[in-house]
Amino acid sequence: MRKLLMDAASRSARYAEEIGQRRVAPRDQEIAALHALGGTLPEHSEEPATVLRLLDEVGSPATVASTGGRYFGFVTGGTLPVALACNWLAGAWDQNVAVRAMSPVAAHLEDVAAEWLRQLFGLPSTCAVGFVTGATMANFTGLAAARHALLARAGWNVEEDGLFGAPPLRVVVGDEVHVSLLKALSLVGFGRTRVLRVPTDRQGRMRAAALPDLDDRTIVCIQAGNVNSGAFDPAADVCARATQAGAWVHVDGAFGLWAAAAPQRAHLVAGFDRADSWSVDCHKWLNVPYDSGLAFVRSAADLEAAMSVSAPYIAITPQREPWFHTPEASRRARAVEIWAALRSLGRFGLADLIEHDCRLAARFAERLSAAGVEVLNDVVLNQVVVAFGDDETTNRIIARVQNEGTCWCGGTMWRGRAAMRISVSSWVTTENDVDRSVEAILLERHRVLDPLRHRAIDPRGPD
Ligand SMILES: Cc1ncc(COP(=O)(O)O)c(C=O)c1O
Repeated sequence: MRKLLMDAASRSARYAEEIGQRRVAPRDQEIAALHALGGTLPEHSEEPATVLRLLDEVGSPATVASTGGRYFGFVTGGTLPVALACNWLAGAWDQNVAVRAMSPVAAHLEDVAAEWLRQLFGLPSTCAVGFVTGATMANFTGLAAARHALLARAGWNVEEDGLFGAPPLRVVVGDEVHVSLLKALSLVGFGRTRVLRVPTDRQGRMRAAALPDLDDRTIVCIQAGNVNSGAFDPAADVCARATQAGAWVHVDGAFGLWAAAAPQRAHLVAGFDRADSWSVDCHKWLNVPYDSGLAFVRSAADLEAAMSVSAPYIAITPQREPWFHTPEASRRARAVEIWAALRSLGRFGLADLIEHDCRLAARFAERLSAAGVEVLNDVVLNQVVVAFGDDETTNRIIARVQNEGTCWCGGTMWRGRAAMRISVSSWVTTENDVDRSVEAILLERHRVLDPLRHRAIDPRGPD
């Protein structure tokens, strides 16, 4: 056992040490080599050390170097060394945190992390917290609590009687709603297209003036951090209207809510603390290993009513029972890495991490803009959206950047135009990583826009 685990540790350390020197996206041949992991189900057992070696030798080269400093795809955090190390120890513990009796340490770490997180996000100490896989499940969890609360008020027990015949609820979203929220709406039985969509402005923010009349049968979903632009919905206006009408406000704050942790960005989340439920990802900006998300619900009773079940064989204590706060029963101890990251960074370290990434996003925007690239969004957070001319040109440049390997940026459609998204979400990214990436992006632009001149200076030439 010791030899195997030490081998795994030394392979992992090598992988982590070499991440900055390798291509960000794997080569085609490295992906093709993955066939060695397949074939028919083995009849006989194989040495654990051989299995580990195969995984490392074939699997590691086919990973995307998202823990390195030049991965800007989607909204992807790296992994803080302390979070990774504690994740390994937690792997050895192999704790199930469904109920407190199964793992006193994991349940206690949830209590501790929940309190620290409530303080960081400025949420009331009575607010309940569920440790889930990510923002999609956190959205699901918040909406399930909302569904319970609004239907209970209308005299309907949705947990017992389901939605058939229930009083109708209305759901209001911004036109720029994240797809995961629509998926969560479909999972709680509200449907993806039954929603009322409120128009948004140029940055993707919901126009508060265009909100319909609200009432106590309405759930309004707003977002802290548009997945492309990073923009924030006008929470103060929306929450004021909703509170007056008795409507429920759910916040999709997958990455944007972390702005609350950095004093220079905290103004962006003003008013969001007045909502009723919130979703946040830890595998994004807290830089803990996948998967890790949080659902916060102001009324613990509503979340517990939506999630609680009991069985005679499951011992329940009077303390907070983890499975009364999540859709899952058996779960890994995600609070371990969250606790480790917060304990290690402290309030100031976390603020620095958030602010550092925001500054690097601004650096990206300034350098690209200075070189004539069109920046399409106000860079208020960690997101930059750029275009290189028409859609075809932009898409060609994105594909070339991804293939070249210095960095990785994804594509999107922004306000009707093809665009490249740059998301700076890792603790490890440096100014040098940004400058190298800008250089690589501009070189690919040059290869596409000026192929003949480029061939004269670079014999590899254009496509
Ligand atoms: C605004 C927003 N909401 C929800 C999600 C979904 O998060 P997850 O993939 O962790 O479920 C994302 C992911 O990027 C997001 O940016």
